[in-house]
Amino acid sequence: MADSLRIALAGLGTVGVGVINLLAENGGVIAGRAGRPITITAVSARDRQKDRGVDLSAYGWEDDMTALAARDDVDVVVELVGGSDGPALALARSALSCGKGLVTANKAMVAHHGMELAKAAAANDAPLRFEAAVAGGIPVIKGLSEGAAANKIEQVQGILNGTCNYILSQMESTGADFGDVLKEAQALGYAEADPTFDIEGVDAAHKLAILAAIAFGTKLDFDAVDSTGISAIRSADISQADALGYVIRLIGLADCSSDDSGNRLFQKVAPCLVPKDHPLARVDGPTNAVVADGNFSGRLLFEGAGAGDGPTASAVVADLIDIARGMTPPPFSLPVEQLAQSTPADPDGRISSVYMRFLVADRPGVMAELTAAMRDAGVSIESLIQHGRHDENSGEEPVIVAMVTHEGPESAVTRALDLLAGSPALAEEPLVMRLLG
Ligand code: NAP
Ligand code: HSE
Repeated sequence: MADSLRIALAGLGTVGVGVINLLAENGGVIAGRAGRPITITAVSARDRQKDRGVDLSAYGWEDDMTALAARDDVDVVVELVGGSDGPALALARSALSCGKGLVTANKAMVAHHGMELAKAAAANDAPLRFEAAVAGGIPVIKGLSEGAAANKIEQVQGILNGTCNYILSQMESTGADFGDVLKEAQALGYAEADPTFDIEGVDAAHKLAILAAIAFGTKLDFDAVDSTGISAIRSADISQADALGYVIRLIGLADCSSDDSGNRLFQKVAPCLVPKDHPLARVDGPTNAVVADGNFSGRLLFEGAGAGDGPTASAVVADLIDIARGMTPPPFSLPVEQLAQSTPADPDGRISSVYMRFLVADRPGVMAELTAAMRDAGVSIESLIQHGRHDENSGEEPVIVAMVTHEGPESAVTRALDLLAGSPALAEEPLVMRLLG
């Protein structure tokens, strides 16, 4: 058997320890498929003394993880630290500039610096892979860039954040409180070091930007992703959606169209009402799913665990197996200099139905004010419900008004909300969610 592929692990948290356990348990299978063993030679993390439940005594240790890149006994650096900049980026840059391979699960870093890293990889003839950065254990990057390589991809949409999906589906099935379920997701290792990245849609936006570049062959443009998280969703929205035949999911959606002025890239992450018969509606817990429409393949559905030690380690090691086999296609499917320029599409030009939830004062004239704003902005209401107060004696307590619109331009909804902005009838900002499909 050929020489081992020698790897260094930076980061020994949920994913790093997952990789150690996976290589230990499946080493024989992996060596057979890779054509050679994959062995860990050195590791690094912040705290050398921490008990991680694995034996690290056989590996070299570096306090400064950047030193991993310079070691002669390392072929590939595996970055499992996290953070878009800082030590992770310093390590990634030095690994590639030393001509070492780089495997990372760090979607924040790839979303912000993917173009620079891909150029460095090409310039130094070094492999760069990041399957685990999008949708955890699901081989969606490989699926789109290899399995569906013959297609023009017209649209990708998906559930890209396990923490949010876990929270929404637990709130739905148990009626549990948002904060309690978030704590559970953190304890299970799904959430980012800063969980606001999960619940405010930033993590899903990182993944969507990477996916869009691969699906459409466009330059990665994370700054153009419009993202909204799930923190404003109340259990009343979940029950209202249920009564209407929908579930609420945080959806990332991207498509790319061309006109005389070039490629128009639409990228949006937001909670949506998903019809119960849509393939994404039955995706529960930390599961992720991506739906991609190819012009010859038709609709493709990728589904699996989007977070957690085992699934994420599985994607990291799959990248290592490819490198061990010498299979190193361009990281964004096309050579980086061939990725096309795009400009963000105008979101107001899109046609959709939306759910709007208002928290309003329960007094005469308020409903008339809401419906007048819809009329004046040209929004057609399909259904409208006001939830009465539980306690008729609770005087000034605001009540919920939920409406669903007929399909129409999103610009009309924006106009209606502008008309209502600052109204004393509104107790808080309205919540708006698109109906998917
Ligand atoms: P984690 O459990 O927080 O582990 C991070 C590791 O990095 C820890 O071992 C920590 O060292 C080390 N570290 C952090 N800052 C460091 C620094 N300044 N210098 C040296 N070491 C440092 O994170 P994780 O969940 O494994 O995630 C790792 C990466 O995988 C992130 O990019 C994340 O977004 C990505 N990812 C995670 C999942 C998931 O399900 N968890 C899924 C897909 C992708 P100590 O242990 O000594 O503190
Ligand atoms: N925090 C991420 C999630 C981990 O919840 O999906 C996987 O990328």
